Amino acid sequence: MTERLGADAAGLARAAALLRAGDLVAFPTETVYGLGGDARNGAAVAGIFAAKGRPRFNPLIVHVADLEMAAQIAAVSPQAYDLVQAFWPGPLTLVLPLRKEAGLSDLVTAGLDTVALRMPAHPLSRALLQAFGGPLAAPSANPSGKVSPTTADHVLEGLSGKIAAVLDGGACAVGVESTILSLEPPRLLRPGGLPVEALETALGAPLAMGGDAAKPNAPGQLSSHYAPGAAVRLMATETHENEVFIGFGPGPEADLSLSESGDLVEAAALLFATLRKADVLASQRGAETIAVAPVPETGLGRAINDRLRRAAAPRG
Ligand code: TXA
Ligand code: MG
Repeated sequence: MTERLGADAAGLARAAALLRAGDLVAFPTETVYGLGGDARNGAAVAGIFAAKGRPRFNPLIVHVADLEMAAQIAAVSPQAYDLVQAFWPGPLTLVLPLRKEAGLSDLVTAGLDTVALRMPAHPLSRALLQAFGGPLAAPSANPSGKVSPTTADHVLEGLSGKIAAVLDGGACAVGVESTILSLEPPRLLRPGGLPVEALETALGAPLAMGGDAAKPNAPGQLSSHYAPGAAVRLMATETHENEVFIGFGPGPEADLSLSESGDLVEAAALLFATLRKADVLASQRGAETIAVAPVPETGLGRAINDRLRRAAAPRG
């Protein structure tokens, strides 16, 4: 059975021991809960795909304790170094050239010659990486295609019995996954918890968006992801009968709200939990659709809208 570990020295020691033994441990980051496994252990990484029921071996993000660990795994160019100084630890993932001697499982990088690295800011993920002493592969700790977890309860709802343990650190503060950036030239691969505007300011130039050879999806094609059970209708400006309505800011009376004051930071933090609540309400009422009010495409709104569009995409 899946152990629930406390946010204390005993919980951390147990989590690190399980990871060293090649077992899987979900842990909190500031973005969402990650499903962690030793990035150097092929069996552990394969176990991540199996536990999530991921149909494809997409490359995974590798989490590091510090810059030294990052530099052992990847070549950190001066431009990457500047971004690290500005934004690590935090919700920025950098795709960097993989060092051949890094010793990562090929499955983590899906055989690419680049690796996605991130240094999370959450105190528990940092303590866990320190205690474990190596790189952790960690996608979001949810079954493939489902809503990402922002609490330990969410993790257990989806993966109980399939992973060794979850380290319980309460609710995640940011609430959407990290922003992914590839370099030379800088290109945004996924909008996320670090607003694009902050990156553009640091880079001193507008950022090219999307479309990367490493991505299996054709540009512009949105795969269904982050999907609740009910269908999702976006940009809803009025409530329909037989729908659950999720509001944002002032607007029609809503069943649930991402943020009554229209605060994008609050909305990002509540996004996935609100989709889960809406799903429960929908099945209680026999409603087939979750309608969501428009969210502005600025700051964290970009990541929120990306996740909402995927939640609303045709299910394949
Ligand atoms: O916030 C987050 O980033 C969360 C938490 C747990 O840290 N992690 C997360 O990891 O979302 P993951 O493994 O699900 O992210 C995988 C995505 C891939 O779908 C791909 O878009 C990108 O990371 N990626 C990974 N390696 C890549 C590479 N070498 N080149 C391009 N993209 C890559
Ligand atoms: Mg995910």
